[in-house]
Amino acid sequence: MNVRITGTGSALPGKILTNAELEQLIDTSDDWITTRTGIKERRIAADGEYTSTFAAAAGRKALAMAEVKPEEIDMILLGTVTPDFPFPSTACIVQDLLGATNATAFDLSAACSGFIFGLSIAEKYIRSGSARRILVIGAEILSRIVDWTDRNTCILFGDGAGAAVVEATCDSDGLLSTHIFSNGNCWNLLFQPGSGSRNPATAQRTIDERLLYIRMEGNEVFKHAVRAMEEAAIAALDSNSMKASDVSLFIPHQANRRIIDAIAKRLCLPAEKVFVNLHNYGNTSSASIPIALDEANRSGQIAKGNIVLLDSFGGGFTYGSALLRW
Ligand code: COA
Repeated sequence: MNVRITGTGSALPGKILTNAELEQLIDTSDDWITTRTGIKERRIAADGEYTSTFAAAAGRKALAMAEVKPEEIDMILLGTVTPDFPFPSTACIVQDLLGATNATAFDLSAACSGFIFGLSIAEKYIRSGSARRILVIGAEILSRIVDWTDRNTCILFGDGAGAAVVEATCDSDGLLSTHIFSNGNCWNLLFQPGSGSRNPATAQRTIDERLLYIRMEGNEVFKHAVRAMEEAAIAALDSNSMKASDVSLFIPHQANRRIIDAIAKRLCLPAEKVFVNLHNYGNTSSASIPIALDEANRSGQIAKGNIVLLDSFGGGFTYGSALLRW
């Protein structure tokens, strides 16, 4: 059985936080952020908005595009590092919000690669005949685990969600391959020290020592990201006997403009084939690729038959790729 994305959706908070507004909060400048990252603004969830809020909204839009009813979904896979709660899974809450009563639902933790890891699991379930329709979601509210006093990290991240309906198909087009990888040797270069079993919550640890918040070795992460995303992209192309010149649209994880440019250069991909929207949203972790895919899809930047290459990197480290003939 082949596998196809039949619908995409995304949902973002209404509130925009610009670089100019960040200049009022921390010692930074629009010029520094723009030059070092390419980010101009990001979306920030309001009180009363949760990861499940945006995940369900993105899921609804993807289902509508695919013309699939919630009860026809067999599985909901939700990549996130900012779930509503440690448990139950946010996927179960989304199942409830959507009325996807026949779906098995669970979260998966692969940081910014969460959507690609979800897509890979969906692919295997559908190819094996164990499921027909799977809703894959990447959703985050990173603004709630960002240290707003740390200028090294708080400028980078934003909130939002993206989703895709993945279905069994008899067409030969569709999802050609997925490749997912992990490098646990580097887990401590990008992580959230508090809130888990290693540093259980106390006022001192969680708040005073700021263990609740994202910690990152930016320079090291940058170098690993470029190498790993190149490796994942080449794995996708090689396994389909394709070259980078066959790719119509490259949709990389939206972390840093310089990372994206470095990978595109290594793959010899011209700028017009590289999808970039991080100036609007910053790094939305697992949501970044499905938001970008949805924007590219709805704006007509992907035509039937186009070869689309998705490429991710995130904490863990995790990285991966998916190659599609649209
Ligand atoms: N505004 C102004 N100055 C800042 C700043 C900010 N927001 N953040 C850091 N600086 C300063 C640093 O303090 C440092 O000053 P110093 O030289 O006086 O010590 C200087 O800018 C350079 O810092 P550096 O860390 O070397 O900058 P960089 O060019 O590596 O850019 C990142 C920093 C974080 C933008 C970059 O490393 C990066 O994007 N890394 C990857 C992060 C990422 O994508 N993570 C998620 C992966 S999924």
